[in-house]
Amino acid sequence: MIGFVTTNEGKYREVAAMLADAGVKMVHEDRSYPEIQADRLEKVVRFAATVLDDQIEGDYLIDDSGLFLDAFGGFPGVYSSYVHKRLGNSGVLKLLADAKTRAARFETAFLLRQGEAHDVFHGECQGTIAAGERGTGGFGFDPIFVPEGATKTFAEMTVTEKNRYSHRARAVAALLAHLRGPKEP
Ligand code: IMP
Repeated sequence: MIGFVTTNEGKYREVAAMLADAGVKMVHEDRSYPEIQADRLEKVVRFAATVLDDQIEGDYLIDDSGLFLDAFGGFPGVYSSYVHKRLGNSGVLKLLADAKTRAARFETAFLLRQGEAHDVFHGECQGTIAAGERGTGGFGFDPIFVPEGATKTFAEMTVTEKNRYSHRARAVAALLAHLRGPKEP
């Protein structure tokens, strides 16, 4: 049994759907933990684990994600949460109004604590920032992000559809590959 430590209902829904399909048991640990300001998502989850290790008995999973805009050298990236809170999706659209490119990507870093081990898994999703906000599903930047290969924003997709493209779904795939262990020769 793995506890997914997140206060974000949307993240939980996405990961739970994939793990259930794979037959992996997960529960929602609805609690927060310290998120340091660091230059990489991986550092954020590794620091959080130093705190959660003392608070949580069993195996757990944490997720730190960010939106990286090509026009701004990857900003907001690790500052995504702050930018979303302060500027919102409309603020990001304004920032990009005169930008040379609307290319963007989401990244996720997962940390799994299993027994004594800590393992980190990454997922990435390339895409573009839409001209305006579209859709009511999902959370965060979902209404303005269109993944490569799609025309809908993440917010116009069901959880199952978003999981076909998303950074988080790719991190889940890496996590599942790890849980299944090395393939028999
Ligand atoms: P967090 O620090 O991982 O919770 O996320 C940083 C910011 O990115 C928050 O504003 C989240 O709402 C947003 N975010 C994280 N993952 C996603 C996603 O899959 N879609 C849209 N926004 C996201």
